[in-house]
Amino acid sequence: MKIVFATNNKNKLKEVQALVSNFELLSLQDIQCLEDIPETSDSIEGNSKLKADYVTKKYDMACFADDTGLEINALNGAPGVYSARYAGPGNDAEKNMQKVLNELKETSNRTAQFKTVITLNLNGQQHVFEGICKGTILKEKTGQEGFGYDPIFQPEGFSKSFSEMNMEEKGAISHRGLAVKKLISFLNKLA
Ligand code: IMP
Repeated sequence: MKIVFATNNKNKLKEVQALVSNFELLSLQDIQCLEDIPETSDSIEGNSKLKADYVTKKYDMACFADDTGLEINALNGAPGVYSARYAGPGNDAEKNMQKVLNELKETSNRTAQFKTVITLNLNGQQHVFEGICKGTILKEKTGQEGFGYDPIFQPEGFSKSFSEMNMEEKGAISHRGLAVKKLISFLNKLA
């Protein structure tokens, strides 16, 4: 059986496909869905649902979609669903991190969490898988690996940032890694 993973990121698709044997995963490109899917919800859950529902309704196919955000407690959960465009349009990671560091200058509460939500539409039913990684926002950028807010996020129980971890290390404890593990274990239980 085929399932669409609502992403254009070939690496994400390959990573998940390598762990799922009973389904063939298709990218948005594979189904010729070339338009930008609207992500207009004000929550991470909402946007993952919007993306999965868009594909299932328009293409009549099983589909899962992910959405991720960084939630900072002292900023009442911001940037959250707006993580990609926190400092303005264009998904500029440097500007986004600078904005966060400036906003936390005066505060001692630097606790935060990354949250990934995956929504799966399969056989007329909807399933939701969540992965959370708790940690703190560092005072300055540290490390070279990863993307987004990785250089300023230190996961709980570690003394280095996500940016100082390799992909395997990060994947084992990350929000996305945990949500994907739940999805895969669900899919692998189906005959
Ligand atoms: P997306 O939903 O996976 O596209 O993530 C939205 C935004 O959250 C990205 O553009 C990044 O700014 C941020 N983000 C998501 N996942 C991570 C991560 O693992 N590390 C750092 N930043 C992330």
